[in-house]
Amino acid sequence: MANLRIEHLNKRYGATTVLNDVNLSIGDGEFVVLVGPSGCGKSTLLRMIAGLDGASGGDIHIADKLVNTLAPAERGIAMVFQSYALYPHMNVRKNMTFGLKFTGVPPTERERRVAKAARMLRLEELLERYPRDLSGGQRQRVAIGRAIVREPAVFLFDEPLSNLDAALRVSTRVEIANLHRLLKSTIVYVTHDQVEAMTLADRIVVMNKGCIEQVGKPLDLYYEPANLFVAGFIGSPAMNFFEAEVGGIEGGRARVAGTAFRNFDMPAASLKVGDALTVGVRPEHLVRGGAGPFLAEGIVELVERLGEASFAYLRRVDGRIFVAEVRGRQTPAPGETVTLVAASPDVHVFDALGLRVAT
Ligand SMILES: Nc1ncnc2c1ncn2[C@@H]1O[C@H](COP(=O)(O)OP(=O)(O)OP(=O)(O)O)[C@@H](O)[C@H]1O
Ligand SMILES: [Mg+2]
Repeated sequence: MANLRIEHLNKRYGATTVLNDVNLSIGDGEFVVLVGPSGCGKSTLLRMIAGLDGASGGDIHIADKLVNTLAPAERGIAMVFQSYALYPHMNVRKNMTFGLKFTGVPPTERERRVAKAARMLRLEELLERYPRDLSGGQRQRVAIGRAIVREPAVFLFDEPLSNLDAALRVSTRVEIANLHRLLKSTIVYVTHDQVEAMTLADRIVVMNKGCIEQVGKPLDLYYEPANLFVAGFIGSPAMNFFEAEVGGIEGGRARVAGTAFRNFDMPAASLKVGDALTVGVRPEHLVRGGAGPFLAEGIVELVERLGEASFAYLRRVDGRIFVAEVRGRQTPAPGETVTLVAASPDVHVFDALGLRVAT
């Protein structure tokens, strides 16, 4: 177990900057999840922590030790990839112990570790099988087992569940959560799956174009996104955005004015008349017949019924579409005009730079 400290990390390929001044401090035993659009640098960051890619600048410390010049095997990390990368000609037991042979771990200790990992991951019955005779979920558990037996200071996971079907993803996700509870290990985990990120993470790191946009606890990112990017990235379906401006200021209150919603007031703080704003409201916070400062009207174009909830796609007066979650069995019909309201903690306002303004 160990902490992890990343300082001013940069990665360039020729003229392309892939990571730009990344700073991140991860506590001993913390489970940190990296999210962000495809190509934003998540795998690159993981591979640099592992020592598979070199840095163009900056430092990486594992357990308070500078590891920049250490080879992957000397860093005390274990990485689990999306492709399980098992050896096809070795059975499960061999796959799990193979890497240990070269690290000087004696055979009896190897066996003890395999037995322990197999018990944790429910692989005991499968130890003599070959990868071709395993399901996708079982193969992924072997890949995780192979990481566990190395007893690394830090686990690195790069989209480990994305090849699994929906049901297996859920059960393996629960296994990973349990594993973290038992091992209390430091984990850096990359995923595209919002539910995985929200449920597994102690903290989520939102990345965009090689930079960190925000680091925080899952619910803090959800309720208080620091900027437009994080607001639009966390949550599904995504937050609705409405163009707005400061229509007037009176008695310390700014009037937030726009064409597609009813004007409302908020603390003026440093806002000035004419400042461009963006108002954001999540689909699940828009309520028919609710009370609150935000009110918008739309004509229903389409309703998606998921069972526990439905999503109504509504055309606003400015011609754009916004989404509202509708609970219960009675869903609005296409063509119907619906009025939706959001309460004040659920109304987010961002300034011209995309930064959150206190409402
Ligand atoms: N050898 C290379 N030369 C130039 N650019 C590269 C090289 N390797 C990676 N990149 C670029 O670095 C960026 C980050 O890639 P990376 O694999 O880290 O993204 P990612 O966030 O993991 O994306 P995904 O979610 O699709 O896995 C991409 O734009 C990619 O094209
Ligand atoms: Mg990747």
